[in-house]
Amino acid sequence: MLGFDNLATDHREIIPGTNLYGYYDAANREYVITRPDTPTPWVNYLGQGDYGGIISNTGGGFSFHRDPRNRRVSRYRYNALPPDQPGRYIYLRREDSGEYWGVTWQPVRAPLDAYQCRHGAGYTKILTERAGIQAAALYFVPPSAADSSCPVELWALQLKNTSATPLVLRAFSYVELSFVDAYNDLSNLDWAMHVMSSQYDPERRAILARTKFSPTTQFFACSEAPAGFDCDRERFVGAYRGLENPVVVELGRSGGTEAPRGNNIGSFHHEFTLEPGVEATMVYILGITDDATAIGGVVERFSDLAEVQRSFAALRSHWDKYLQTFQVQLPDDDASAMANFWGPVQCRTTLYWSRFVSSYETGLGRGVGTRDTAQDTLGVVHAVPDEVAAKLSRLWALQFSDGHTWHQFFPLTGEGGPGLASERPSWPQWFCDDHLWLVIATCAYLKETGDYGYLERQIPYADDGLPEGRTPAGRGSAAGSADRSSDGAKATKPKGPLPRDGHGDPTIWGHIMAAIDFTLSHRGPHSLPRAGFADWDDTLNVDHGSGLAESVWCAMQFCRAALDLAELASFLGRTGDAASFREMHGRMAQAVNDHAWDGHWYVRCFDDAGKAIGGASEDRHRINLIPQSWSVIGEVTPRPRGEAAMASAHELLGTAYGPILMWPPYDGGDPRVNGTSTYPPGAKENGGIFCHAAAWSVIAAAHLGDGDRAYGYLRQLLPLSRPDVQRSSVEPYVYCQNICGPSHPQYGLGRNSWLTGAASWMQVAITQWILGIRPTHTGLRIRPALPSAWPGYSARRWFRGTEYRVTVTRGGPGGAISLLVDGKRVPGDVVPLAAPGTATVAVDVVVGGE
Ligand code: GLC
Repeated sequence: MLGFDNLATDHREIIPGTNLYGYYDAANREYVITRPDTPTPWVNYLGQGDYGGIISNTGGGFSFHRDPRNRRVSRYRYNALPPDQPGRYIYLRREDSGEYWGVTWQPVRAPLDAYQCRHGAGYTKILTERAGIQAAALYFVPPSAADSSCPVELWALQLKNTSATPLVLRAFSYVELSFVDAYNDLSNLDWAMHVMSSQYDPERRAILARTKFSPTTQFFACSEAPAGFDCDRERFVGAYRGLENPVVVELGRSGGTEAPRGNNIGSFHHEFTLEPGVEATMVYILGITDDATAIGGVVERFSDLAEVQRSFAALRSHWDKYLQTFQVQLPDDDASAMANFWGPVQCRTTLYWSRFVSSYETGLGRGVGTRDTAQDTLGVVHAVPDEVAAKLSRLWALQFSDGHTWHQFFPLTGEGGPGLASERPSWPQWFCDDHLWLVIATCAYLKETGDYGYLERQIPYADDGLPEGRTPAGRGSAAGSADRSSDGAKATKPKGPLPRDGHGDPTIWGHIMAAIDFTLSHRGPHSLPRAGFADWDDTLNVDHGSGLAESVWCAMQFCRAALDLAELASFLGRTGDAASFREMHGRMAQAVNDHAWDGHWYVRCFDDAGKAIGGASEDRHRINLIPQSWSVIGEVTPRPRGEAAMASAHELLGTAYGPILMWPPYDGGDPRVNGTSTYPPGAKENGGIFCHAAAWSVIAAAHLGDGDRAYGYLRQLLPLSRPDVQRSSVEPYVYCQNICGPSHPQYGLGRNSWLTGAASWMQVAITQWILGIRPTHTGLRIRPALPSAWPGYSARRWFRGTEYRVTVTRGGPGGAISLLVDGKRVPGDVVPLAAPGTATVAVDVVVGGE
């Protein structure tokens, strides 16, 4: 089951200068890590958004249920030494010699004869060999149990004696159980450690960790009756020892300890006598429930190996089903692997956990971001439209009737909050972009699904749940809801079959209108959107109470939202509304072009005193990437200006690892911008390569029809193509949020992998812009921006219940498109919607050459 064959046959030639730590195995859809001492722990995610966890290539990590702050299952010590501990550990000990080691290398870190970690979609398999024993540990969450009342994860262990003599082996498992409220577990030690206790229940073969006052029980069980157990960490480890040499493992005998209080662990001791060539298998089961009567049944169920195998097969087919909605064949293996596998896996994981729980976010702090989740839907909407509708509804419920939204929320409690803004109560407590992302994401959902009835769905505004006296406009918003602009435009009020109008209309359409109204009624002296606490760039904090600061980028984002709404209204036959949205777009674009063009590029924003930031006359922050890309994405500008803006960005911001966000970076605190300047030069938003924003450059270049430039940026950003894994140090199979820029001593170092908006935007950039397959209200548009080295590509994409089999070939120079749909010539570049029930449609596209 666990595939020892992989271990034996994995003799990949290592080519000097390439990744020495691993490679992507396309046939098995697994990233294979070939040595345990990776530059940072290279992690994977288990679970599907309900019960979940993080696991590193050496078994480090932890688990949680629905909310990693409030329903934590196991512990992890961030930033501790030794690194990446604790985790899901299994010690092995040979009885004859007394030598012991870790099946996943950690926590003993004893040398191994062979090691391999295979990270797949929702599972991790670690295979090792030492002292004549092959071991494989497979970790996953069975899909059927994930969202049940008693969710679990499984650790399936397989051992094989590869020596010529019979061996007696002892296995000791180890997981550190957290007090269920992880914040108290960390901060309120006397209380948390007094109230939690664990005992072994032989009937259920389970260690149960509980309190006297709550029904919540964490449990750790095993498929085979153990020879011993331990619940008390201190007794298992021994005084002044560490996880690398616990006294129980060293002596080879469990203590049989319960934990009346203190640090609770789940540890079992099993004994195996293995003849040469013989294998043994067992399963550990870790879970949490509020109904302890369910535990016995679940333990029995997953003690059956056949059921474990079925569950693993179900997990794989669950992911296959998700992945098959869009598969491509490109003349670039790394791009194909990201588009077909790691990109979609990362997008889905990011949608589940937003920026909440990763190797960098502890799951204790910041909750799920509104803007982040809205953007995360863009990468998965074709595959899981129902989940996206549910997420969007959840996000719309964070909106106040004046149109702004909470900046973030905790998934379990639903508690919303203004995020970072709360640290500066006298500054605006709203962000100027959150609500507009919801408009853009909702339009994308409608284009993908055609579910126009969604616009009629009713969602209460967040004011309804506000404590009395709380103003929805946000505390400390010095200028309140003042509109300092001159044109006084208001959002269009649709009439007819679509929803009612006016503030407080709880339909999705009403929410959309409130969002548009908020931006229009919160503008500054140049008629551009007021910046609020920040726009997309959380660290650009330019409004310190004046109400004068404006975001040029947000004006461009508004332009995109207005055009998306114009398209929607026009499709729905609401020509008046469509014209009105176009007019809004036109006026905003005019304001941008009148006030924000700096000669060769657009400025970034206006500060608290109304002075431009991001223009050529400045010493620091003379140019910023995102107003250049969004001038194109928001269709704000006449074409030559967009091209000039992007050319300036390319020239001044381009690096070997992708374009940096701005230049030159601040070198010390600058009160004008606050947050950005707290970073050293070259880090994150202060002149680093912010991959999320860099993805917009791929899109803008493709938008302008420059396939080579778009592909150039793509290659720089593809994790699998990173030239120096040692230097970048993060996982080479997922996008990271930021890479240090050239002004930083660690130029090229990647940080904050996995949960980043780069995932969904890169997926959009590849599939919708380079490959050019874009859903519209009337059909599937195919307008590729092919790199000149590509003769074409093929793709299979689900769209509204039909599979489109697309083949694109280059006919010659130029971007003209000719389309054959099921062999018939169709004018334009949109494949019309197939009749309901159509299984497949063949689309042959020739680019250029006509
Ligand atoms: C982080 C935040 C995201 C923000 C970005 C730029 O990724 O999660 O919300 O847009 O930084 O500041």
